[in-house]
Parts: sequence; structure tokens; C-alpha cells
Amino acid sequence: MLSKEQNELMTRVGPGTPMGELLRRYWHPIAGVSEFEAKATKNVRIMCEDLVLYKDLSGNFGLMDRHCPHRRADMSMGMVEACGLRCSYHGWLFDHDGKCTDQPYEDTANPQGRYKDKVKIKAYPVRARAGLLWAYMGPAPAPELPDWEPFSWKNGFRQIVISELPCNWLQGQENSMDPIHFEWMHANWSKRLRGETGPYGPKHLKIDFREYDYGFTYNRIREDTDENHPLWTIGRACLWPNAMFTGDHFEYRVPIDDERMMSVGWFFTRVPKDAEPYVQESIPVWNGPIKDENGDWITSHVMNQDFVAWIGQGTVSDRTEENLGLSDKGIGMMRRQFLRDIEKVRNGEDPKAIIRDPAANHAIPLPTIHRDAVTEGMTAEEIKAGGALHLKRFIFQYGQPEHVRQAQEAAMGIAQDNKGYVDA
Ligand code: FES
Ligand SMILES: [Fe+2]
Repeated sequence: MLSKEQNELMTRVGPGTPMGELLRRYWHPIAGVSEFEAKATKNVRIMCEDLVLYKDLSGNFGLMDRHCPHRRADMSMGMVEACGLRCSYHGWLFDHDGKCTDQPYEDTANPQGRYKDKVKIKAYPVRARAGLLWAYMGPAPAPELPDWEPFSWKNGFRQIVISELPCNWLQGQENSMDPIHFEWMHANWSKRLRGETGPYGPKHLKIDFREYDYGFTYNRIREDTDENHPLWTIGRACLWPNAMFTGDHFEYRVPIDDERMMSVGWFFTRVPKDAEPYVQESIPVWNGPIKDENGDWITSHVMNQDFVAWIGQGTVSDRTEENLGLSDKGIGMMRRQFLRDIEKVRNGEDPKAIIRDPAANHAIPLPTIHRDAVTEGMTAEEIKAGGALHLKRFIFQYGQPEHVRQAQEAAMGIAQDNKGYVDA
């Protein structure tokens, strides 16, 4: 349980708030590269700031204030140029650093005045990695953009799924330290949603939480596993400060503002050994809906079930009303780490998991269950027989577009069951 003040401290992310300042020390994925094959600008709202993300004519990405500093026109209606984005209202042009590089009428009427040197637009660095576009909104110098090992895994079909959720980001991130929900939400509730009453999934007997350089792992022993099982020896990874890595996919919980978040999923499906080598030119990006055509929450897929839980906790969960138990040890560890990190940022120090050394930022390994299955691969026969990753039938989120399904099937050489966990 938190006090009202602590809850506000942990959840508010606007500029100048302690948590907002902490989160601004990290790179955040805010869109997919392939979204810009068909358009040049995209509106984004990140941590209470309205911004426009763009790809200029040289193929470089930038992120700037949504409003032109001249008379506030919408920069997402602007025109991309060789370097930067030009406002469509009176033609002022801004580069990636936010510098005004052209003011057509001012430059003509008073070239000596160099008024453009006095005007800047707010701008943030953007980098592309793993098919995602990452933004850094904190003070310079920016740390390294983490190069997690899975981003360079070979022979995988990758896809990016983005969903907007009407709840605070911390509800999503607390799910990254919550092993018991697998048993109830994903195993047992799925059975009930299928109309079955049992038998329920294996019970958890023991859980543990361990710190590593870039976050924490949660480790567990169920009735059907022992202490030699990778669920206990390796565990799944909470990735600091706002993501999770499960062994073959990342889930980032990016705050839009205090009351909304973006779930940004990066999924890696290893193609069968028989289909190697597989090279994917462009990583598809799709928006995952959270409600069906009747306006009901979608509950058929694992991640949609999680979304229903987080949204159900309230727009901003009232943590003054919680009653935490032994299953919530990881939640406490996470909150205490956030408090330590907020203090570090106040003192001008780097918080947890900031990477400053470029030499150390190459294919950084993360705790990875079934690593061999993902890196070495399996044959199509092994996968069909229900291999470790359930590649044949496990689609995490509802709403995969038909063209992505077809591309995934073609890459895999195996028919995908796209119905989700509940109906699978
Ligand atoms: S409002 Fe943008 S150039 Fe005038
Ligand atoms: Fe979950």
C-alpha cells in the first residue's frame, strides 16, 4: 500500500515531476520505423508532451514540439525537407536539433536581422533500432540506446504491436514483477472463458525475485516444475524501468500521460531450422485493438488479458486501498527501486540500468528462458510437436492484420493458429 502522496509521486510523468524526470533519463520506443514507409509525420504524446515524429527527405528521423514557435500551427501538418520539418503555415523550417534554419519572409525582408537565430523549437533525439524508433527526452548527454541481444538474433520473424490503453503506465509495469497472475489470469481464467471449469493450471509453490544489472527477474516453482527448470533458474525479466522481456518478446509500457499508456510489443518468432536463412527486410507494425466491435474488452489473447487487468485497476490505481501479500514481494522491490532512483536523479546521479560506455553496449544478454530454442532454432517437426515456444499456435495479441499473418506463415512454413490462447 502507498500513501496518496507516494502514489502520485510514482505515477505522474509530466515535465518536472520526480518520476517524469527519472523516466526522461531513458530511451523509450515511441513508434515503428515501417510506419514511415507510407507517411512522413506522426503525432505522438509522450509523458504529457505533445510532439510530432517525422522522417525527413534524407531518411533521418526527428521529434519536435507539436506547435510551431511562430504562431503555434500544428507541425504534423508540415512539410519534410532534406533536413528537418517545415511549418506549412508560413514556411519556417526547423532541423533535428530544433534550430530554425529558414524563415522565408523574414530572411527576405531583413536578411541582416537573422531573426531565425533567436527562435528554437523544442526537439529531442530519435534513433532507430530493431525496427523501433526510440526517443530520449532527458538532459544531455543522452546515455547509450541499449542494444539488447535479442535485437540482433537471426532468422526470426519480428513484428511490433502498439496499443493505447486508458490507464497509468505503472499498472502495466507492475505486471512485470507479478508471477502469480500467470496461474490465475492466463491459465485458470482462460479455462473459464472457454467454458471449462477445470482442471485448473499448475499451482505456484514458491516464488523469488532477483536483481540483475538491467532490472529484476521473477522466478517460480510450480507443481509441475522443479528447481532445475528455467522458470526457477533463469526466470523472466523485468527490464528497467518500464519494460519486460519474457524470453522471446519485449513489452514496453510507455507513458502517454498520467492517464494513458502505450503498450509497445516487439515479438520475435524463430523460423524453423528448415527455413533458414530467413532475412526480414522490414518489420511490420500494427495497432492492437483492446475492444471488440460490441465495445467489450477483448480477452482472448494473453496480452489483452493483461490489459483488462491493468485498465480494471482504475485510470490511476488507488494504491492507498491495496492489501499486499507475499505474492507482491516484487511489487515492493520495484517501488523501492523507483524511490532510490528518484533520489539519485535529484542528486545528479545516473539511476539504475543507464549505459554510458559505448564499448559495453553490444548485444547485451538478458535472462532468456529457452535461449537455444530461439537462437539455435528447431525443426518444423519439433515446432509442430509443441516445441518449447509453442510457435505454432501462440499469438500474443488480438488483431494481427491478414497481411502480417500471411507474411508470418510464409516465413515459418507452418500454419499459425491466430485465435489466441483462449480458443487455441
Ligand atoms: S505558425 Fe509556423 S511558420 Fe507561422
Ligand atoms: Fe500477463
